[in-house]
Formats: sequence, structure tokens, C-alpha cells
Amino acid sequence: MTPRGAGPGLGSLRVNLMLWLFGPVVAILGFSLWLSYASATRQATLIMNRQILASARMIAEQTRFRDGAVRVVVPPAALELFASDSHDEISYAVFDQDGVLIAGFPGLNLPDPMPATSDAVFLPTRFRTEEMNAVVVRQSVITPDGTTPIRVMVGETLRARDDMVRSLWLRGFLEQAALVVAAALSIWIGITRELRPLLRLRRAVLDKPADRFEPFDAAEVQTEIRPLVQALNDHMARLAAYLDRQRRFLDSTAHQMRTPLAVMKTQVGMARRGRDATETLAVLAEIDLSLTAMSRLTSQLLTLGRVEHERAQLAVEKVDLAEVTRDVASHVAPLALDAGVDLAVEAEEPCQIAASAILLREAVANLVDNAVAHAGKGATATLTVTKEAGMGVLTVSDTGAGVAPADRARLFQRFQRGTSAKGGGSGLGLAIVAEIAEMFAGQAELVAPPGGKGFAVRLSLPLV
Ligand SMILES: Nc1ncnc2c1ncn2[C@@H]1O[C@H](COP(=O)(O)OP(=O)(O)O)[C@@H](O)[C@H]1O
Ligand SMILES: [Mg+2]
Repeated sequence: MTPRGAGPGLGSLRVNLMLWLFGPVVAILGFSLWLSYASATRQATLIMNRQILASARMIAEQTRFRDGAVRVVVPPAALELFASDSHDEISYAVFDQDGVLIAGFPGLNLPDPMPATSDAVFLPTRFRTEEMNAVVVRQSVITPDGTTPIRVMVGETLRARDDMVRSLWLRGFLEQAALVVAAALSIWIGITRELRPLLRLRRAVLDKPADRFEPFDAAEVQTEIRPLVQALNDHMARLAAYLDRQRRFLDSTAHQMRTPLAVMKTQVGMARRGRDATETLAVLAEIDLSLTAMSRLTSQLLTLGRVEHERAQLAVEKVDLAEVTRDVASHVAPLALDAGVDLAVEAEEPCQIAASAILLREAVANLVDNAVAHAGKGATATLTVTKEAGMGVLTVSDTGAGVAPADRARLFQRFQRGTSAKGGGSGLGLAIVAEIAEMFAGQAELVAPPGGKGFAVRLSLPLV
């Protein structure tokens, strides 16, 4: 049995349940109705057979040999047995040993061949146009020379029997129909009741304001539906966390941008009040620096936006960490030269990892930028790519001043900078690196610089 409406969608739960529950009930009741019809027919036939057998015996007993012939006297009682409302027709016939009719109605025919049994034989027969149920009994009639066998046949039309079957069966039918209706009703009520919590839940979901994430009460639905509510709640919790991250990010971004903007406003004011061109030019140069910092901040924010976007898409590809590292180093080389930082790359072997090429580039660039920006004149920055225990590892270390030990714990958080950090940084670089690493099941951490002095970050990502 296929529930209706299984085509587009899954159809109505109510209708499906109704079909699954009610269908078998109807089938079982139909079968039991058929059984009770058969049993009613058996019972009525049994009663009828008893009656025709009794009258056949009565007629047989009243058959005597008198005046040289077999004489049949039909006692009225023999046929009165059938007094019924259905006006059945009764016929009888008495045959001699050769099957010749001695008395009764011509038209009742002995079965041919006659069953060998000496007992009563019941058989269906026809009398004129009507179907009958008949019985044939044997009897020995005493004659002067001994005995002669005769056969008495009595038949009755089936009206009374059919009436009886009908009335026996009708009662069963009515009882069972009442059962079917009661079952349908209780199934319908049951389904309606059981669906109510689900509909309430639907109402609650519909009514929930967009900014509310309180979980739905799983105790208000049946155990089977609880996992669904749980999943819904879990999803809402993730959504709430995501929105919270976004909001805090927006807040801190606005906060971060306010400071350089305020500085620039002051600088512009100074430039306007400048007494001579040299002073104005000096202030303009400061404004230029602030603008550089601002545009750096903006591009870092865009990168973070891209990280969030990619996090949603998470398209992972095969990227060569060594190649990306060499590429970034060659791009940054002129800046490193300007800053007086010596850049060295140790990444000969290809090192294929699973990540996004754009984001990996971004992470590496942030680490190299930091070395150039923070290590200081005369320092050496080394980029080393190695493979360790299923991970591709890039270590960016420099021989600069490093950071105060107290700062180390918070450098990977957004907008966090070292206490002695110089230049127009945003404090987002290492946070971006950490988020990208985490996104691709990798890790970014501060490690001890090889020479004991300076700064080193280790970025590891799974090899493919
Ligand atoms: N190579 C480095 N040498 C010394 N300090 C570093 C180095 N890289 C990062 N830092 C410290 O970590 C802080 C956070 O770095 P980052 O998140 O990239 O922010 P930003 O570079 O914009 O200041 C920096 O402000 C700096 O104090
Ligand atoms: Mg930085």
C-alpha cells in the first residue's frame, strides 16, 4: 500500500496515517464479515437439513405394504414442520427399489448415480424453476415375502434459509460497521490530537521575531519530534552566535575607524591653519600616513569579510604552500628592502595542502607583512616550509625585537596589537591568519624563534 500523495512531496500526514491505520482495519473487518457470512450460511443450512430429514423420516415410517402394494400416507405433521413466514415450497417423492415414483410430486429426481451410502444424503436439486435443498433417506418396508427397499426424498426451497442467513449476517454486519465507524472516528481524533503539538510548534516558529533565538521547548512535543526541535534549537544557537560575531565585529570596526578619522580631522584642521607651505606639507604627509593606515584597515576588513563568505562556501582546493610562500616573498621583497629587513625563503619541495588559494595567500601575506612591519631595520626574516606529521608547515620567523611576553596570549584576537607596536596597523592581521587556519582544519600559533630572540609564527595546514 502506497500512501496517497507520495508523488510531489509526501502528501498529508493526516491522510497518510489515516490510510495506513484505517486501510488494514477495513481489510480485517471485511475478511471477518466474509467469515461470518460463511458461518451464518452453514448454520442456517444445518437447521434446514434437520427439518427436511425429520419429515423424510416421518414419511418413510408411515410407508406400509398394504393390499399388495407399497402405500404412502403423508402425515400432516411431516409437512407442518416447515411452517414459516417465507412460504417455502416443499415437495416430496417416494421411489421403489427401481427408482420408480410410488407417491409424491413428479419432478423431484433422485440423484444419478445414487450415492452408495445407506444413510441420509443431502443434495442441492431443482424443482420446477426453484432451487431446493433435498434429502434422500432409505427405508425397508416389510412385505409378505420379506422386505423391499424404498427411498424417500424431501426438498425445500431456500427462501427461509436465505432469510435466516440474512438476518444472522445483518446483525454481524451492523456490529462490524459500528466498529469500523468507531475505529475511524478514534483514529481521526487521535491523529488530530497528536498533530496539535506540531501545529503549535509551527505557530511558535512563525511568531518568533527575527532577532529572538530562545530555544523552543522540546518537552512540548512527542519524543519522536524532539530531535527535530533540538536540531532547530541548535541551528538557532549557531545563527545567534554568528550574528553576535557579526555585530561585535561591526561594533569594533566602527570603533577602530573612529580613531584614525578623528586624527585625520585634527590633521586637516592643522593643515588649514598652517602658517606656511612647509608646515602644511608636513601635516599633509601625516595625513597621507593616516590614509595609508585607513586603507590598510579597510582592505583587512574586506579580507575578513571574504573569510566569512568562504567559511559559508568552504571550497577547498589543492594548493602548494611552498609556491604560495615564494610568490608572496617575491611580492614583498621591495617593501622588505625599504624597511631594511633581509628576507630569506627555504621552500624547495612542493607541499600540497587542502585550502583556498586566495585565503592561503592572504594568510601568508599577513605573516610576511608583519615581519617587514615589526621586525625593524637590520633584522632577518626567514620563511621555512616543511612537512610534519601529515601537515604542511610554514614558519615565519625574524630576528627583530619580538613582543612583550604579556602580549603574546591576545595577539591572535581581532584588533589586538602589541603594546609597543608601531605604524598604522589594524590589529587584524594575525586574527585573519588564525581564522583562515582554523577554517581549513589547521592551526596558527606563536613559537619560540630559532635564534631565541625575535618573533616566530607557525602556520600548519593538512597535507593532501
Ligand atoms: N614579526 C613580528 N615582530 C614583532 N611583533 C609582531 C610581529 N608580528 C606581529 N607582531 C605583534 O602582533 C600584533 C598583532 O599583529 P597583527 O594582528 O598583524 O596586527 P598589526 O600588524 O596590524 O598590528 C602586532 O601589533 C605586533 O605587536
Ligand atoms: Mg599585521
